[in-house]
Amino acid sequence: MQIIDDPSTIQRRCESLRREGQTIGLVPTMGALHAGHLSLMRSARAENDVVVVSIFVNSIQFGRGEDFDSYPRDLYGDVAQAETAGVDLVFAPSAEAIYPKGFRTYVDVTELTEGLCGASRPGHFRGVTTVVAKLFNLVRPHRAYFGQKDYQQSVVVRRMAADLNCDLDIVVLPTVRESDGLAMSSRNVRLTPLQRQAASVLYTSLNRAEARVRVGERNAQAILEEVRTMIEAEPLARIDYVVLCDPETLKPLDRIEGPVLAALAVRFGETRLIDNLLITVP
Ligand code: PAJ
Repeated sequence: MQIIDDPSTIQRRCESLRREGQTIGLVPTMGALHAGHLSLMRSARAENDVVVVSIFVNSIQFGRGEDFDSYPRDLYGDVAQAETAGVDLVFAPSAEAIYPKGFRTYVDVTELTEGLCGASRPGHFRGVTTVVAKLFNLVRPHRAYFGQKDYQQSVVVRRMAADLNCDLDIVVLPTVRESDGLAMSSRNVRLTPLQRQAASVLYTSLNRAEARVRVGERNAQAILEEVRTMIEAEPLARIDYVVLCDPETLKPLDRIEGPVLAALAVRFGETRLIDNLLITVP
């Protein structure tokens, strides 16, 4: 496995692999790797000749007062984990290499970025799509891998790739969870033991929403109320949002008639966690 920090080096390397006829799978990450990231790498390993993982804590997707400075960073640990997943190239650039002096160009997907996390994190998705577009241009992967854990991100990136005619497949893979159902996240390490225990309410409450739909409830407000009540019963949890929305447009739903995405963001102290469940109507 090779570690590359220079954008033009990774670009030349990937270009020559592509010319040799090798297929390239890209897994973009911000590091602090866990089993969720590793499942993306393993799928990329199975489906491509070469696997590239990027590790870059992307400052421009963090808002003012968000956790950019305290975001967990562990490059050596990450490199060791990537190696066990069979990764060929780790691209770990500096901030200056990605956003050199004079950088002025941003990629902005409209509408899909307005609700859910876009509402509480203005500018977040603009930062995500800008760095992902740059990574696509540097690596020119045949396939890029994303997790359903960040459902809105996957929808926004798909839209961007289609709108900008990116010549690649976007692969979205299921959320990997801890044994109590908590979605794996780089931010979980920042939870205190009590917060960590309390955080299992996220998955439990999403399952409650699904159970309500399964027994025939079609009124979104009634389900949302139940989910909110469940989360609010947990004194360490503060709700940012809980929504039932259309899985493609991400528009909130009043009545449930087809597939629905239950999505939420909840704070435990300073740590904001997100999770979601795609619910199909029987
Ligand atoms: P990061 O949070 O490091 O996540 C990298 C990828 O891993 C994303 O596609 C995310 O959805 C996926 N992932 C995270 N937790 C997961 C889990 N429990 N199960 C399955 N997949 C999981 O998302 C980002 O970084 C950044 O926004 C990025 C796309 C790299 C752009 O900076």
